[in-house]
Amino acid sequence: MKNIVIIGGSKGIGNAILLQQLETNAVYNISRNAPEIEHANLKHFSLDVLQDALPEIESIDTLIYCPGSINLKPIGSLSIEDFRTDFEINVIGAVKAIQKYLPTLKKGTDPSIVLFSTVAVKLGMPYHASIATAKAGIEGLVKSLGAELASVVRINAIAPTITETTLAAGILRNDRMKENMVERHPMKGYLKPEEVASMANFLISENAKSISGQIFEMDYGIVTFKI
Ligand SMILES: NC(=O)c1ccc[n+]([C@@H]2O[C@H](COP(=O)([O-])OP(=O)(O)OC[C@H]3O[C@@H](n4cnc5c(N)ncnc54)[C@H](OP(=O)(O)O)[C@@H]3O)[C@@H](O)[C@H]2O)c1
Repeated sequence: MKNIVIIGGSKGIGNAILLQQLETNAVYNISRNAPEIEHANLKHFSLDVLQDALPEIESIDTLIYCPGSINLKPIGSLSIEDFRTDFEINVIGAVKAIQKYLPTLKKGTDPSIVLFSTVAVKLGMPYHASIATAKAGIEGLVKSLGAELASVVRINAIAPTITETTLAAGILRNDRMKENMVERHPMKGYLKPEEVASMANFLISENAKSISGQIFEMDYGIVTFKI
């Protein structure tokens, strides 16, 4: 049984990972709200990753950091504070968790870290300046730490396109917006959290033991294809 720390497992992609992992592994969830499920393999810590001290956890094999933001505005409407806020929750929170748990993680079995980027780092999209800047930081972190920890801890990121979670609810708020989103993607779809969770589950598994320092686009073709 592996010990998996999920920051942000109360909803969205993190919750889908938590639900897929609970039957076989011990899951430690950290988020402001508790996940709806209770389970013998689940321990929950209610806290704000930016404001509060992270709890001590004795044994860790995997760290997954999910908190993020979607703050889409023209550059003239984005304040410096918007950039700071997005950088804090997307990057600084992840750095804080990695620094806290790395010494424990290093003693784990096939230890690994999974972070989240976005397709908006590789595909220029209007109004994404703040989030793309922050997530580019995540991609840099994955490359640099991948090298620094190469023989010790694996670290990868998933860069999803739009995924049906509460974070994206405003962008998918009615049937017309959902249909438009399907049409924008060459492969005619967008992500369900369970699809992203399956990729995370692969990346933290033994089957991915050769993989580190990589960014995995899950893009329904939006970055990869021009049709
Ligand atoms: N959804 C998309 O379309 C999409 C697209 C591209 C990339 N991504 C990235 O994928 C990742 C997951 O996205 P998602 O859609 O699953 O997000 P989500 O539905 O908003 O879930 C985020 C999770 O993080 C927790 N969280 C947020 N702020 C926190 C804080 N300050 N302290 C502790 N926990 C906090 C939330 O729990 P509480 O609210 O209970 O604290 C929740 O469990 C993010 O990094 C996002 O940027 C998402």
